[in-house]
Amino acid sequence: MATSWSGLSFVLADQSYMTLITVLAVTVLWLLWSVSSYFRYRNRLPLPPGNFGLPFIGQTIEYISAVSTADGIRQWVQKQIERHGPLFKYRFMGNPTVILDQPEGNKFIFQNEGTSNHISWPSHISTLLGPHALAVLTGERHKLVRRHLHRFFDHAAMSRYIDAVNRNAIQHFTNHWQGKEQLVALDTTKSFTFSTICKAFSLEEGPLRDRVVEEFHTWAEGAFCLPINLPGFRHYKALKAKGVIFKVFDGLLEQRRQEIAEDRVPEALQKDILNSLLTVPDEEENLLGDSFIKDNLLLLLFAGFDTSGGTLAMTIFYIAKHPHVYEQIMQEQKLITDEKLKNGEDENTLTMEDISAMKYTWKVIQETLRLLPPAVGSYRKTVTDLEYKGYHIPKGWLLNWNNQHSHYNPKYFKDPLKFDPSRWETSPVPFTYIPFGGGPHLCLGYEFAKMSMLVFIHHLVRNYSWSLVDPNYDGPFIRDPFPRTRDNVLISVKQIIAS
Ligand code: HEM
Repeated sequence: MATSWSGLSFVLADQSYMTLITVLAVTVLWLLWSVSSYFRYRNRLPLPPGNFGLPFIGQTIEYISAVSTADGIRQWVQKQIERHGPLFKYRFMGNPTVILDQPEGNKFIFQNEGTSNHISWPSHISTLLGPHALAVLTGERHKLVRRHLHRFFDHAAMSRYIDAVNRNAIQHFTNHWQGKEQLVALDTTKSFTFSTICKAFSLEEGPLRDRVVEEFHTWAEGAFCLPINLPGFRHYKALKAKGVIFKVFDGLLEQRRQEIAEDRVPEALQKDILNSLLTVPDEEENLLGDSFIKDNLLLLLFAGFDTSGGTLAMTIFYIAKHPHVYEQIMQEQKLITDEKLKNGEDENTLTMEDISAMKYTWKVIQETLRLLPPAVGSYRKTVTDLEYKGYHIPKGWLLNWNNQHSHYNPKYFKDPLKFDPSRWETSPVPFTYIPFGGGPHLCLGYEFAKMSMLVFIHHLVRNYSWSLVDPNYDGPFIRDPFPRTRDNVLISVKQIIAS
């Protein structure tokens, strides 16, 4: 017994000794780090104001819970500005992060992208998107791939797609709206935007597309959750879903390759994204391998489907709230149809000239995007130490370009919480209105989103009137992560019978 007690005291003495050494070592390391930081930063400017909170966690939980409602994130940004001033630091998922003052800060980020900062996604989202997806690329590689993809999204490309998008819209209203008394607008607008984007790469209606829709939902849920790659968790399921989607894409590529080889691609498809990506010469480092094509097809769904589907649903919401807006849109769209009838043209066709004539309708969508942008911002990482407005921002910090301050700032948008499309009669101050981002990663699908949303609204107001089932509801709007009402814009619908 005595032996075992003395043994125990020896062990304890040994443990105390080890503890002492550990404490001493940590203290020495901390002192060394503090002294070296002092010498490194003594001549430097101060860090931006703000609070880092707890180690690693920082403001992560606070930010994530704020961003779950549209009002929450606006108020969170506002509160930080009141506390710390127009630019402030916080810690997000372990990363020191800064939101710069606006609009100058947004301009600074966008104009210096590629030199002092580059795009940065949380690693689990980069994994889900894949290494070739345009949105995750930086520098020269990004420029090269963007040039390649841009030709499917410029104005000339829109002139080629508009007819297919228009036919898709007509079909959509026949299938989803005709004969209905009540419907969930968000479900139908998302179904429209999904099918429109799929059409751009010839994934037509049918069981394969239904499968992609289903798996895509699982995939998207995994992009906006905790990145735990274990069975049963959403991120794990998302990776599995990606595998299924890529199998469908493999089938599409194989089929089209065969059609190209046998020279039997239908004329209408000869200039679609798939055909062009498969037939462009394999220049520039074998750019167009299958992995490249599949990563970017998936990116188009990710970037374009919920963003424009959600915006359309919230536009339907705001129009229902403001009957004079409905009347004005109606008049604008009727003029377009009347002109066609007068010229003996088919009233069911639309051209890019018609899209340009939908000026008021576009203002209504712009106002929706100001109040409820699908993306409130995203991240860039500093690749050098920066000096900005008297502050030092170290290399490796995140910069969060963010539209929540400028979109609601009374200095730039009078009475900012009011839905008022007439404010778009004058152009906004540069970098105050950024629902589509800015700089080298500016939304590639801007023209596509604009054209397809306007085509949808054209057919909607020409054929239907609607009202909200919950007319008194005016927020708070949910963000998960895209803005929506709590009933997903449930509306009562009446078909307009032409007199
Ligand atoms: C209302 C509709 C839309 C909004 C508000 C929107 C918004 C945005 C934003 C904010 C970014 C920049 C993200 C960043 O800086 O990190 C972006 C990028 C992108 N968007 Fe859109 N988007 C919309 C529709 C679309 C559509 C319909 C497509 C294509 C079918 C599309 C394709 C893309 C692509 C490919 C990128 C990545 C560009 C790059 O990294 O170079 N978007 N979008």
